[in-house]
Amino acid sequence: MRITIAGIGYVGLVTGVCLAELGHEITCVDLQESKIAMLNAGRSPIFEPGLESLLAKNMSCGRLQFTTNPEMAYKQAEIIFITVGTPASDDGTADLRHVTAVADTIAMYIKNDVIICIKSTVPVGTNEKVKQTIDRQKNADSNTTVISNPEFLREGSAIFDFFHGDRIVIGSDNPEAAAVIENLYAPLHIPVIKTNIRSAEMIKYASNAFLATKISFINEIAVICEKLNANIDEVVMGIGSDKRIGDQFLRAGIGYGGSCFPKDTNALAQLAGNMQHPFELLEAVIKVNNRQQSLPIKKAKEVITSLAGKKVSVLGLAFKPGTDDIRESASLKIMKELQQEKAIVTAYDPVAVPNMKKELGNDFSYTDDIREALWNSELAIIATEWEQIKQFPISLYAEYMKEPIIIDGRNCYSIDEVKKHSIHYVSIGRPSHSPKTQKENL
Ligand code: UDX
Repeated sequence: MRITIAGIGYVGLVTGVCLAELGHEITCVDLQESKIAMLNAGRSPIFEPGLESLLAKNMSCGRLQFTTNPEMAYKQAEIIFITVGTPASDDGTADLRHVTAVADTIAMYIKNDVIICIKSTVPVGTNEKVKQTIDRQKNADSNTTVISNPEFLREGSAIFDFFHGDRIVIGSDNPEAAAVIENLYAPLHIPVIKTNIRSAEMIKYASNAFLATKISFINEIAVICEKLNANIDEVVMGIGSDKRIGDQFLRAGIGYGGSCFPKDTNALAQLAGNMQHPFELLEAVIKVNNRQQSLPIKKAKEVITSLAGKKVSVLGLAFKPGTDDIRESASLKIMKELQQEKAIVTAYDPVAVPNMKKELGNDFSYTDDIREALWNSELAIIATEWEQIKQFPISLYAEYMKEPIIIDGRNCYSIDEVKKHSIHYVSIGRPSHSPKTQKENL
C-alpha cells in the first residue's frame, strides 16, 4: 500500500522503516530539513540497534523515501500515520500543536480516500477532533477515516518490538478501515485488539501509567528493604514468580526516565485533575520517581559529607541502556545536582555523550572509556545499567579510583561479588558494604 508517515521522530522512523520492510511503499515526511537530508544520505538521526541496516536496505530497493514536501507526501497516500511528538505543555497536559498542524496540512493536500492512523500519544477525544479538523478543511471530495493505533515500542529494542509486539491496538468506529489496518499488520502474527477510538487512546496512557506504577512501587519497597535489612533482589524473586504479579518492570533503581513515562504520567494525572478526579495513586508514583532520581546524591552525602572539590565519576548518561536518549534521564538530574555541590564531574557513556554535551554544555568532562572516567575519582555513581558497566570488573574500581566509593543506582553488581573487595558500595534496596563491614565479616 502507499503509506505516508507524518513526523519522523522515534516512532515515525521505526514505523516507516519496518512497514517498508513488510513490502509497502513508504514516504516519510517531516518539516526539519537537516533531518530529512541526513536520512536521504542513509544515516539515522537516532541511535537504535538494527535501524540503519533496514534503512539502507529499504531505501536501496526504492520502497522508502524521505521528503519535506507535504504535497508529494499526502497527495497519493492511501494510509497516513501521524507520529508527531506530543510534548508536555507548561501545565503537564499534552501539547497538541504538532498534531493539529499536521491535520491542517493533510486536509490541504489529500486527494483520495484515506485512512489516518494516529500513533502519537494523544488525550482521549483527540482522534475525533483530528477527523473534524480534516473534514472541515479538506478541498477534495474524499472520505477520511481516523483510527487510533497507539504505539508500544521501547527505545533500544524498537525494531524487535515492531516485529514481535505483545498486541496491536486498533481503535475505530469504521470496521472496513479497521480491517485494512489489521491486514497491514497481518504478516506479523501479533494478536490484534479492536476497540472503540476512545478506549484505544486510553490504553496507551493506562499502559504507561501502570508500568510506571510498578517501578515506583518496587522502588518504595526497596527503600523499606534497606531500612529493614532485607534484599530487594530476593524480594523481587519471591513476588515476581507469582504469575498474577509477573517479574517484569520490577527492577529497583533510581527511577524511570525517557520520552514517554514522565510525560505520559504527568499528562494523565493532569487530565484526571482537570476532570475533578485527582489521580492520587499516579501523583504518588510521580512523586516517588522524582525522589528516586535524587537518591544517588543523598546517599553519597551520607558517606562523604561534602562533595565540593571532589572528583566524581558518573557512569551512564542515557535514560536506559541501548539508546543515546537522555531525555528525563536520572543522570541529567544527578549531573545538575553535582554541579550545585561543586563537585568535579567526569561522565561516561558509550553513546550518549554528544547528547549530554548538547544539553549541559562543557562544564563537565566526558569520555566513552570507563577507566578514564574512574581515574583518580573519589566517588562513582552508576546511573545506567549498560552491559559495558555490568561487565566492568568490580575489582578495577579500587585500581583506578582514589578511594572507591560506589553508589550503584542500577544494582549492576552482585552483593556476593562486592563483598570480596575493599570498597564502599551502596546500591538500591540491598545491604551496603564497606571495608569496615568487610573486616568485621572476616
Ligand atoms: C516505554 C514503554 O515501555 C513503551 O511501551 C512505550 O511505547 C514508550 O515508553 P521506553 O521509554 O523506551 O518505553 O523504555 P522502558 O524500557 O519502558 O524504560 C523506561 C524507564 O523505566 C527507563 O528509565 C528504565 O530504566 C526504567 N525502568 C524500567 C526501571 O527503572 N525499572 C524497570 O523494571 C523497568
